[in-house]
Amino acid sequence: MSAERVADLRVDYGREPLDEAAMLADPFGQFRVWFDEAMASGIREPNAMVLGTAEAGGRVSCRTVLLKGFDDRGFVFYTNHGSRKGRQLAENPRAALLFPWVDLERQVEIEGAVERVSAEESEEYFRSRPRGSRLGAWVSEQSAEIQSREVLLRRLAELEAEFGEGEIPKPDFWGGYRVVPDSMEFWQGGHDRLHDRFLYRREGDGWRRVRLSP
Ligand SMILES: Cc1cc2nc3c(=O)[nH]c(=O)nc-3n(C[C@H](O)[C@H](O)[C@H](O)COP(=O)(O)O)c2cc1C
Repeated sequence: MSAERVADLRVDYGREPLDEAAMLADPFGQFRVWFDEAMASGIREPNAMVLGTAEAGGRVSCRTVLLKGFDDRGFVFYTNHGSRKGRQLAENPRAALLFPWVDLERQVEIEGAVERVSAEESEEYFRSRPRGSRLGAWVSEQSAEIQSREVLLRRLAELEAEFGEGEIPKPDFWGGYRVVPDSMEFWQGGHDRLHDRFLYRREGDGWRRVRLSP
């Protein structure tokens, strides 16, 4: 039996071909250009990215997280170190990131090694979060099985009583990860499925760029 077919939406990508000469030699600079365009475009949460991780045994999973910072070192997101993704990253410190900017007919794929950001950097970001989000980080034993939503509300009430009006410190089990890319691919849709793909691979101290077939 064949799988139920999904209606063919027949989307043709209408963008002009990517001008190879205008692509920056530095993939971080190129990411900055596309990210700024995504931010200015009005699409919802352009910093939402799909994070793929794998267990040491090879079992793969993915979920959406938010990009909270990037520079020439890599791409930073924050989460609970004890979560499923945190456990996978402890076993196998590599990840893939995907920015699915479908409305812009673009995507960026990033692969690399993962390291924890410094405690200071995590603290600084944690302090910048609204009080409710800081409490939420304490409440959630992320990815653990729970009986009901009430469990969370009870825990929240306990923590509110415990912390009172005082400072809410960053939990030790919560912090940032940085994906340090060894490859970055920029994809842009083109007419008749003749899309443009440019892959940057780290080579020594620099980057080599190649065009890939769509
Ligand atoms: C738009 C969006 C943004 C999210 N951002 C984060 C985030 O920055 N950090 C995080 O831990 N989870 C975030 N989540 C929740 C994750 O997708 C996921 O459910 C959670 O991290 C548990 O994943 P895990 O069980 O694989 O560890 C976000 C979900 C959505 C839909």
